[in-house]
Amino acid sequence: MPSRTFRASSALISIAALATTGLAASTTSSTNITASTYKLIADLSGPSFFSNFNSYAGPDPTNGFVNYLSATAAASSNLTGFFSYPEAGNLTTAFIRVDTLTSNPPAPGRASVRLSSKQTFNVGTLVVADIYHMPTGFGTWPALWMLGGGAIWPAAGEIDIIESVHNSSANIMTLHTAPGCSVDNSTSFALGGGDAGTYASQLMNENCNTGNGADGCSNHGPAQTKVYSNQLSTAGEAFNEQEGGVYVTEWTTSGVKIWAFARDAVPSTLNTANPSTVGFPTPLASFSGKGCDFGTAFKNMTIIINTTFCGDWAGKVWESSGAKAATGVETCEAFVAGKPDEFVEAYWEVGGIRVYSGGSQ
Ligand SMILES: *[C@@H]1O[C@H](CO)[C@@H](O)[C@H](O)[C@H]1NC(C)=O
Ligand SMILES: *[C@@H]1O[C@H](CO)[C@@H](O)[C@H](O)[C@H]1NC(C)=O
Ligand SMILES: *[C@@H]1O[C@H](CO)[C@@H](O)[C@H](O)[C@H]1NC(C)=O
Ligand SMILES: *[C@@H]1O[C@H](CO)[C@@H](O)[C@H](O)[C@H]1NC(C)=O
Ligand SMILES: *[C@@H]1O[C@H](CO)[C@@H](O)[C@H](O)[C@H]1NC(C)=O
Ligand SMILES: *[C@@H]1O[C@H](CO)[C@@H](O)[C@H](O)[C@H]1NC(C)=O
Ligand SMILES: *[C@@H]1O[C@H](CO)[C@@H](O)[C@H](O)[C@H]1NC(C)=O
Repeated sequence: MPSRTFRASSALISIAALATTGLAASTTSSTNITASTYKLIADLSGPSFFSNFNSYAGPDPTNGFVNYLSATAAASSNLTGFFSYPEAGNLTTAFIRVDTLTSNPPAPGRASVRLSSKQTFNVGTLVVADIYHMPTGFGTWPALWMLGGGAIWPAAGEIDIIESVHNSSANIMTLHTAPGCSVDNSTSFALGGGDAGTYASQLMNENCNTGNGADGCSNHGPAQTKVYSNQLSTAGEAFNEQEGGVYVTEWTTSGVKIWAFARDAVPSTLNTANPSTVGFPTPLASFSGKGCDFGTAFKNMTIIINTTFCGDWAGKVWESSGAKAATGVETCEAFVAGKPDEFVEAYWEVGGIRVYSGGSQ
């Protein structure tokens, strides 16, 4: 179990802690919070965390060197389980990790887990994800994302909330859609969370079908930003060193916004029954504009947490990212296969995910 400081314990915002102990959070925010129509429709947290998900055990469509285990196999080989922290009101978090023991696993690759929520979500949804740790390390490609159902990809859309590869410390947020959905850079160019100007996220494409959807419209977040004057690292090792944070995704008819909050700067509204994003600072990423019908480009979304290795992104940038030089290993797959002990930090630790619906702003 990781040793956590639970600094700023008066603002222990873990939604799992709230669920189990009723702890209320405080906030350093001075913005006005007004009631909204958001209501809780899914609470993926606490000891029942894994019963809210299906495990996908098929091949990775993006060609990762990965062997996704069934839920039973993942639990029995201790790739999924719980941490509980008596010092923090017996906070229970879920861990989702990868095989750190096997040398040279056969194809399809290193054992990992891909969880997909049983419940699906539609427009007017607010997703609050309390993440203590995300996978990092050369060869890794973790993601927390939403995938549309009922149509051939990308016709039902995809929203990538947290995604990075190797040792990157900057989060990349992306929409992937069918043709006919583009976002407007004048509204989608975000100033990275509140303290204007200095920490911009950068939109790479306006057309969310770029590359037939494979590239989509990506917003490259900054590695560091400030929210309510609190320093925030958006991904990677630095994100883990700050004990993670809370990612908030709001999907309405007018767009998709993603905020990240450091643990000591989480708006208290997120711990109320009817949270509101009114008064929130500038999002880390904001996808909006008249070029997209956000209610139909994305449909029946599941929430997915997975960690793959190499493949179409992490594998392709092995050399250009500096990973080859840093590891001295020729290929991503050779590194992932041969160095099981390099993957001890390749785990998700999730305080919980709460989903609300009914928002209309
Ligand atoms: C299971 O994995 C967790 C996380 O790495 C670790 O803390 C724990 O000791 C492991 N349990 C066993 C029985 O190996
Ligand atoms: C916040 O609330 C105060 C008091 O009700 C009000 O005077 C102020 O205009 C509000 N600010 C915003 C940004 O809504
Ligand atoms: C798992 O995550 C990666 C990274 O986002 C993604 O490209 C891949 O398709 C996912 N694998 C599966 C089976 O969904
Ligand atoms: C703390 O949580 C763990 C895991 O959910 C549980 O097994 C244990 O009984 C709890 N302890 C207390 C004192 O509630
Ligand atoms: C979404 O899911 C509902 C309920 O399962 C289903 O009736 C509907 O056809 C689905 N919509 C699409 C676009 O797949
Ligand atoms: C959007 O605007 C920003 C700021 O001017 C710029 O850095 C970025 O390249 C633009 N993106 C697109 C897709 O035009
Ligand atoms: C990632 O590793 C490369 C190669 O060692 C290094 O140049 C780079 O600074 C590292 N990035 C971070 C964010 O640690």
